[in-house]
Amino acid sequence: MPAPIVTLTTAENQHQLTIAQPSAGLALQGRVQIPGDKSISHRALMLGALAEGETQIQGLLLGEDPCSTANCFQAMGAEISELNTELVRVRGIGLGNLREPMDVLNAGNSGTTLRLMLGILASHPDRFFTVTGDSSLRSRPMSRVVKPLQQMGAQIWGRQGGALAPLAVQGQALKPTHYHSPIASAQVKSCILLAGLMTEGQTTVTEPALSRDHSERMLRAFGAELTVDPETKSVTVTGPARLQGQTVIVPGDISSAAFWLVAGAIVSGSELWVENVGVNPTRTGVLDALEMMGADITLENQRIVAGEPVADLHVRHSSLKACEIKGDIIPRLIDEIPILAVAAAFAQGTTVIRDAEELRVKESDRIAVMAAQLNHMGAQVTELPDGLEITGGAALQGAEVDSHTDHRIAMSLAIAALNATGITTIHRAEAAAISYPNFTSTLQQICHPL
Ligand code: S3P
Repeated sequence: MPAPIVTLTTAENQHQLTIAQPSAGLALQGRVQIPGDKSISHRALMLGALAEGETQIQGLLLGEDPCSTANCFQAMGAEISELNTELVRVRGIGLGNLREPMDVLNAGNSGTTLRLMLGILASHPDRFFTVTGDSSLRSRPMSRVVKPLQQMGAQIWGRQGGALAPLAVQGQALKPTHYHSPIASAQVKSCILLAGLMTEGQTTVTEPALSRDHSERMLRAFGAELTVDPETKSVTVTGPARLQGQTVIVPGDISSAAFWLVAGAIVSGSELWVENVGVNPTRTGVLDALEMMGADITLENQRIVAGEPVADLHVRHSSLKACEIKGDIIPRLIDEIPILAVAAAFAQGTTVIRDAEELRVKESDRIAVMAAQLNHMGAQVTELPDGLEITGGAALQGAEVDSHTDHRIAMSLAIAALNATGITTIHRAEAAAISYPNFTSTLQQICHPL
């Protein structure tokens, strides 16, 4: 029996993921099933809870983040079946009927839960809510949603003038607004649109570049009156709305697929089929970036499933070259920048990523953390105020690295380790369960010694 390449150990509730490079090297081979899309999972639970009648959700992500959303809405009266099943049923309570929760609502690590939920809570009159999250979420900026909600008349209080959770919300009837968001953020856009559902009149959000449009697609499917103007990048919802329970089929998360796409591209001798991946054009920036880098990825069986485009992706190893990633593509690949940084570390030339200052306020400061951790493995990465400069081609060596409790950092470092000599240990690897509970077992299945 050859020694295992991938091992997971647990000590004091923390996981250490160890990747030991066999002396003859390794290759990745096989078919991978991707867990459900995190963004779509949150929205399906929320709209299901606010709708009338039953919503059935197939393929919901069983990660910690959607569990936080489910817990919050259960505490406000929605009936949600066991999440650990193929089909999750949500018995909605109808828009406007949320119960005042007895306790603090806890969004855990999930920015999407907290920011989207704030729009819903602020527009529910005569109820009082308190919301919080884990230490990462309590240090992430909330003014980006609190300020526009206050423009609509919302009453929200919190640390640093309402900029940081814990927050307290006194629900109100709000007035409609046209909000010009200074940032391309689906969380901001969705929060305001959700507040608009209960608000009489037209609520419009205009953004500087198009962010993911899952809320728009799903709100329409649930029966909301919604118009989209692609020219001006504006979305308008007319309230008060009524939502009807629907069947939602959640595609695999392209943000999770991205780890295997990069792994297959950088590890010599690899070939992977990554199945049932959501390829909504507002999310496929990672495919465009990898194509610019010369990756060999093809989309097969392209189809539409419950209003979202889906495909199977086939990736084979190829030599990569550096590229420039900046401007309007950034919101289309914002969550994939840590793993693209890994791809860049194995590409010929210097990759420059700019206009991505948002990364500084994600689950961790992803610019600082990726630069420090990859450099610790021998890469050549320089931090920029709004991105990274990565000169590829330096040989990476195994090292002790740390996820900083950020799921995407944990998984990106595991993929980097597949191409590093010696042994890499990723500390606090349990973070992966936020969006990808089976990450380690999938890695074990597809990783073969040469
Ligand atoms: C998300 C939007 C993005 C993304 C996050 C999920 C969503 O954040 O980074 O992981 O589901 O709406 P921003 O809206 O802050 O850009």
